Amino acid sequence: MKFKGRSIISIRDMDKASLLKIINTAEEVKKGKHKNCLKGKVISTLFFEPSTRTKFSFESATQYMGGEVIGFAGSEYTSVKKGESLADTIKTISGYCDVIVIRHPIEGAARLASEVTSVPVINAGDGANQHPTQTFLDLFTINELVSDLSRIKVGFLGDLKYGRTVHSLAYALALFKTPLCFISPKLLRMPVDLLDEISEMGSKTKEYEELEELEEKLDILYVTRIQKERFGDLQEYERVAGCYRLTPQIVHTLGENIKIMHPLPRVNEIAPDVDTMENAIYFEQAHNGIPVRQGILGLITGTIA
Ligand code: CP
Repeated sequence: MKFKGRSIISIRDMDKASLLKIINTAEEVKKGKHKNCLKGKVISTLFFEPSTRTKFSFESATQYMGGEVIGFAGSEYTSVKKGESLADTIKTISGYCDVIVIRHPIEGAARLASEVTSVPVINAGDGANQHPTQTFLDLFTINELVSDLSRIKVGFLGDLKYGRTVHSLAYALALFKTPLCFISPKLLRMPVDLLDEISEMGSKTKEYEELEELEEKLDILYVTRIQKERFGDLQEYERVAGCYRLTPQIVHTLGENIKIMHPLPRVNEIAPDVDTMENAIYFEQAHNGIPVRQGILGLITGTIA
């Protein structure tokens, strides 16, 4: 698959070979290859929604590789505030940079952006829909632990309805036919059509409401935050807020070797004293955002073949 000049909008645009190419490129970057491959390139980061990891890791990934960054966090000091459309904003910024990275609360915003410009667009999260580069770094992190993505069991815990990182990663793992289980309150179940699709792709799936009900030993538990900002009805949020909290005692019951991942930010779904356990790899996961995003920026700007 050709990456040069390509937008990265959805994990659904990816096949297994492209995902493996991204993982391999990130491995090369982490080993010190492709230094300064963004020299002379300008990356714009347009964040219409809050972010710590995605925004800062894209920016530092660019700068470590010799590139420059322009952009904003919050559009209130841009002409969006004067009523400029997203399409006009993108068409304008396209003339100032080589890649556009965009996070926007509206599902489909990144796709729309990619349709009005020839500059590659990277979706850094669109509403509850997709966050493909998070999935790349999640897969990269898992791949550092195991040699075969099809031979592990992965569980997802928490807000599986609104969690775009869950939707993207579950779909990506289904390309490898990884067995998956989903633990959530009824209100926050995985979307049924996505669950059906994942099963049809060849992943065995099972749903639970409580961690204690798990019948299988997991290799990885991917914990997510209940996404308060996505609830239309705050009373519904109150019904599920704090429904899970992983503590060291609970981690011990899940098995000695289980690895705990989380896209972060966390609120209170993982107790801070889990952080020092060997099982906890969520900060390492977040730091893998650098080589993974360096790799993807190199691939789409054509400076990495
Ligand atoms: N994981 C993630 O997308 O984090 P941020 O919202 O801080 O970018």
